Formats: sequence, structure tokens, C-alpha cells
Amino acid sequence: MIKVSAPGKLMLFGEHSVVYQRPCIVTAVNYRMSTILEKRNDDKVVLNAPEVNLLNYTASLASLDKLHPKEAQFAIRALFNFFEKYKIRSGINIQTKSDFNSKVGLGSSSAVTVNIIKGLSELLGIKMNQEELFELSYKTVLDIQGVGSGFDVAAAIYGKTLFFNLKERIFRLIETEKLPIIIGYTGIKADTTTLVKMVKEKLDKESGKINRIFDEITEIVNLAKIEIENSDWEKVGELMNLNQELLRKIDVSSKELESLISASLSAGAYGAKLSGAGGGDCMIAIAPSDNYHNIKDAIQRVGGQIIEADIQAQGVKVEA
Ligand code: PMV
Repeated sequence: MIKVSAPGKLMLFGEHSVVYQRPCIVTAVNYRMSTILEKRNDDKVVLNAPEVNLLNYTASLASLDKLHPKEAQFAIRALFNFFEKYKIRSGINIQTKSDFNSKVGLGSSSAVTVNIIKGLSELLGIKMNQEELFELSYKTVLDIQGVGSGFDVAAAIYGKTLFFNLKERIFRLIETEKLPIIIGYTGIKADTTTLVKMVKEKLDKESGKINRIFDEITEIVNLAKIEIENSDWEKVGELMNLNQELLRKIDVSSKELESLISASLSAGAYGAKLSGAGGGDCMIAIAPSDNYHNIKDAIQRVGGQIIEADIQAQGVKVEA
């Protein structure tokens, strides 16, 4: 039996453009997904994921590439891909436990995918380095979702605060103090797939304009990396505001996000932006710590919910 856990993620800079192989900066949050894996003596996979109401979901090893319920898809595909790649098979019990609220969009599907592949490698004695773990987990996410930059998979594996560039396979930990970030949830679930598709349609129609926006975001991401390393939170805030302005131009913000963002800025945040696909989910603000209280209040007053999360969490790990 083995227990592994992986963190959730919070996008700091570079959402959407990262889908087109541009860099982004992501931090891991201490909401973890834990997964226990255990060998079975038969040819069955039995999955328990109470947080998504999946109880004793059973599939035979021969049926792993068939259709499975949405709640089981990532786990089953992760098993299938692992067995295919390493030409090995075993019946497995899987039990997940999550401290995520999957509505908030902190990345539970990538965390469970990484956990299962990491857990199988430990359980079945197959050596995998972090790059191999990334490639197989990312393939699994793409098999199910069709789209996605892999930043969430990288955050689940490497943890901390990460400069991520898929094209050049750069996963660089940014040496930094803890960013003074406040997270506000709009109460609305973002539909990442729809928003990514919408941006793709824009890119197809107006490629010059959208690519110029992506170029500007890339520049912001590169500058943000330096300012985060310098712990210059005021400059990081300015860059957040610039990034948000560009996200507005590709129409992924929403009135709820804007209302939380402007409340935090009026209350004295250095900067604020949406985090992730947009349309809902979370915004982040960076602020002087003596002003945290006011900013949180301001966000709540306009209907936002504060998510208390510790950032720069450790990446995937085998639990004792
Ligand atoms: O909605 P989230 O938190 O999963 O973030 C999506 C970020 C995008 O850049 C829009 C998509 C991606 O896969 O990178």
C-alpha cells in the first residue's frame, strides 16, 4: 500500500497565452489531494472518491480504455497510460481524499492524475524521474480534456512557485519569499474548456491582434519572474494590473471578477487580477501585509469569498 499527495495550484501570471506554448508563473497551494493505492489479486480496478460521490466504482483491466463516468476518467486513464507505457498490469484499489473544494478550480484532476502515476511507479517498482512523470501525466490530462497547457500538472509535481515553459520544457523553481497574496472566490464555477475554445476562436479570427496580446503577456511573465525573485511586491502588483488589462482585452474577465478586483484595489492592494481561465473562479490580489484585513473585508463586502490557502506548497510526495 502506498499513499501519495499532491498540491493544488494557483495561476499567478500568463493564463491563456500559456496554452500557446508561452511561459506562465504558477504557485502550488496547500490544499492537497491524497491517494492511497493498493495492489489487488484479481484483474479489477476499484475506485473510491467520496468527494465526487464515487463509491466502489469497479472496472476490469481489459476495459480501462472504454468509456467511464466523468468522475473516474482521469484516474482510469492514468492507470491505462501507465500500464501501456511500462507493459505491466495489476489489479488496484484506489482511494482518494481531497481537501479541495473542486468548485473553486484549484486543480484536483491534475493532482489526482499525478498521484496515481507517481503512486503506481512506487507500488510497482518502476523508476520515473520528474520529467517522465510530467510527460505521462500531461498526456493523460490531454487524452481526457483535449486542451490544456500542463501548468497544473507541473505545479502538482514540482510544487513551490514555478516558471513554466512547455515549449522548452522549462520547470524552474523561483527562489522567493512567500508572496503576500489574497485569494477571492467569485462563487461562480469557471468553465475552462469553453473559455479556452473561445480564445482559440479569437486567435483564429484575429491572429495578429491576439498574438500581439500574447507577446505582451509573455513580456509581463518574464518581468514578473524577476520582480518575484526580488520580492518587490509593488512591482509585482503593477505587473498583475497590466496582465489583467490584457486578459480583459481577450474577454475572459467577468463582472464578478472585476468587482472583486476593483474592491481590492480601492482598499489598497498593489495589484489584482483573475487567476486561471476567468469567467468566474478566483481572483488574486497582492498587498502590503498591514493592509490584508481591509482588503479581505472589501472583497467580502462585494460578495467575494476569501480562500485561506498557504502557497508555495510542496510538490507530489509519498506520505509516511
Ligand atoms: O481554470 P484553471 O485554473 O484550470 O486555469 C486555466 C488556465 C488556462 O491557461 C486558461 C488553461 C491552461 O490549460 O493553461
